[in-house]
Amino acid sequence: MVGTGCSGTNAYRYGTMREWVLSLTVVLADGTVIKTRQRPRKSSAGYDLTRVFIGSEGTLGLVTEATLKLTVRPQSENVAVASFASIQNAAECVTKVVEAGIPVAGVEILDDVQMKCINASQTTSRQWKESPTIFFKFTGTPSAVKEQISMVQKLAANASGKSFEFARGAEEMKELWSARKQALWSVMAMRRGPEDRVWTTDVAVPMSRLPDIIDATKEDMTKSGLLAGICGHVGDGNFHAIILFNESEKKVAEGVIHRMVKRAVEMEGTVTGEHGVGLVKRDYLAHELGETTVDAMRRLKLAFDPLRLLNCDKVIRTEQPAPGEIKEW
Ligand SMILES: *[C@@H]1O[C@H](CO)[C@@H](O)[C@H](O)[C@H]1NC(C)=O
Ligand SMILES: *[C@@H]1O[C@H](CO)[C@@H](O)[C@H](O)[C@H]1NC(C)=O
Ligand SMILES: *[C@@H]1O[C@H](CO)[C@@H](O)[C@H](O)[C@H]1NC(C)=O
Repeated sequence: MVGTGCSGTNAYRYGTMREWVLSLTVVLADGTVIKTRQRPRKSSAGYDLTRVFIGSEGTLGLVTEATLKLTVRPQSENVAVASFASIQNAAECVTKVVEAGIPVAGVEILDDVQMKCINASQTTSRQWKESPTIFFKFTGTPSAVKEQISMVQKLAANASGKSFEFARGAEEMKELWSARKQALWSVMAMRRGPEDRVWTTDVAVPMSRLPDIIDATKEDMTKSGLLAGICGHVGDGNFHAIILFNESEKKVAEGVIHRMVKRAVEMEGTVTGEHGVGLVKRDYLAHELGETTVDAMRRLKLAFDPLRLLNCDKVIRTEQPAPGEIKEW
């Protein structure tokens, strides 16, 4: 979590890992052990080294200890599922909920392909409509949760929602949320043979651009002929592609993902919202951030790790790439 600064379905309400780490103990490349700061909730004391290490994917130091903030557990929790005729209607509903300032704990979208996989793979205990679906999570006092559900239900109806269901009890809540949990596994269950692999990746864009990028990416996926689903933390403008492919379809899958990443950058978004950069996305950073910003990152890397011992060449290249190694943008 610290390594990639990652997050999940609770980030819309609670923020990502970056918001929850107060301080880190880190072993530097030369063996020095440092603690980034003490543990008050806020501090103006010097550079924010904590956040330098969060998301550095092991390239700047080895994290051995993390001090986290805690929060109270909400008194009450519930889940609702709304299905829509189109992904545009679903996106419209999300925009309305966000604009109304309803403090939902999570807003997750699964497209028709993803819902089809979940239904067909029977990885959950119930049957699902095979249309674009939004999963809402609500937390708070019991009366606040009730009020939020009723507000969201109205907004879903206003966005031409086809159905709206909320859980009546802990068992049902688990059951409703299970589909979201099974997104990845249900695509895996659709493998045609042992040679099939599943590619998951993510991008994030400003909220206002989310319907556009989901639309364009979905069209591209349909054209590709691959089994490819979209699922996303839409409250954050963050979504994932989950693509099934075999070796002879790999080029096609790469094309779909490359264009999805490019689209995100062109919409002032990011090449990864929570999965991180690693090797595959490092050459995209210059397009998102600019050469000079990547150079500043490289200087930071070399300041912390001049001998390039730590997870070398991940996130930021420190070696010259071989000719032809960097793909065309
Ligand atoms: C969902 O899956 C079940 C079991 O395979 C199937 O009977 C049902 O028709 C599917 N629902 C839709 C909407 O296709
Ligand atoms: C949806 O909301 C709009 C604007 O708030 C309102 O004018 C319209 O009547 C509503 N439609 C439905 C079906 O509730
Ligand atoms: C990949 O899947 C396609 C479609 O099912 C099939 O035609 C092709 O032979 C498969 N290729 C490999 C390498 O398994």
